[in-house]
Amino acid sequence: MSLVRYSSTRSIFTSCCTLGKGVSSAIWINRHKNDPYVKKSRYENFRARSAYKLLEINEKYCFLKPGIVAIDCGAAPGAWTQVMVRQCYPEGVIKPNGTFIIAIDLGGIAPIEGANILPFTDFTSPLNQAKIISLLRDQKVDVLCSDMCPNVTGSHEVDHVQSFRLVLSAFQFGVQTLKTDGVFLAKILYGSKSDELVDIMKKFFQNVKIIKPPSSREDSSESFIIGLKFKGLKTPS
Ligand SMILES: C[S@@+](CC[C@H](N)C(=O)[O-])C[C@H]1O[C@@H](n2cnc3c(N)ncnc32)[C@H](O)[C@@H]1O
Repeated sequence: MSLVRYSSTRSIFTSCCTLGKGVSSAIWINRHKNDPYVKKSRYENFRARSAYKLLEINEKYCFLKPGIVAIDCGAAPGAWTQVMVRQCYPEGVIKPNGTFIIAIDLGGIAPIEGANILPFTDFTSPLNQAKIISLLRDQKVDVLCSDMCPNVTGSHEVDHVQSFRLVLSAFQFGVQTLKTDGVFLAKILYGSKSDELVDIMKKFFQNVKIIKPPSSREDSSESFIIGLKFKGLKTPS
């Protein structure tokens, strides 16, 4: 599976995990202050620089559009949800056009007009997934996004496996709820199980790719896996 990289700029920053805490936070603050995406996000009123990852991916695959049903898992502080709302209500006017957006996170999320917010909600809990399904009221989902990320431990393999579990949870939910031709997008901390994930997803989607948008930091192990054109589930005859 080839990794679609949009840019090849090498980061000059050393991974914070390898440095002492004081040094690493100083580096982080300095990098954050000078980061063009952070500056742009303030200017464009996004809650986080992560908005640009979804914008860049959507620019290439064009799945966010007015009238869709979309779910944002791991939504706090809400930048991806803001992107969804802006793409689905392009005039900036929130009026009924068929769009239905649900945003979920373990933590708090301040309200976003145009989205149904489920804060303090563990997406992986079957009870919470049942709650999401009842909110959907028999609507199938066009786009299921997960930017869920575990609390990183510093051990690459542990973090990767935790991230893989979060993706699998979202993916299993997607298989139950996505429309035929729907899209699944998830962040994965890249590692040994990434290829396994691609193989599983290929059984359910016509096209599966691993992507690293330009705004994703080069020294971050995160990548995004996208499944395009969900094949649908065959109902027993
Ligand atoms: C990188 S942040 C998401 C940023 C967000 N996409 C944005 O643009 O504002 C990852 C989020 O995943 C959430 N998360 C991790 N595990 C989760 C779970 N089991 N259920 C719901 N959210 C989870 C974390 O609380 C955290 O807010």
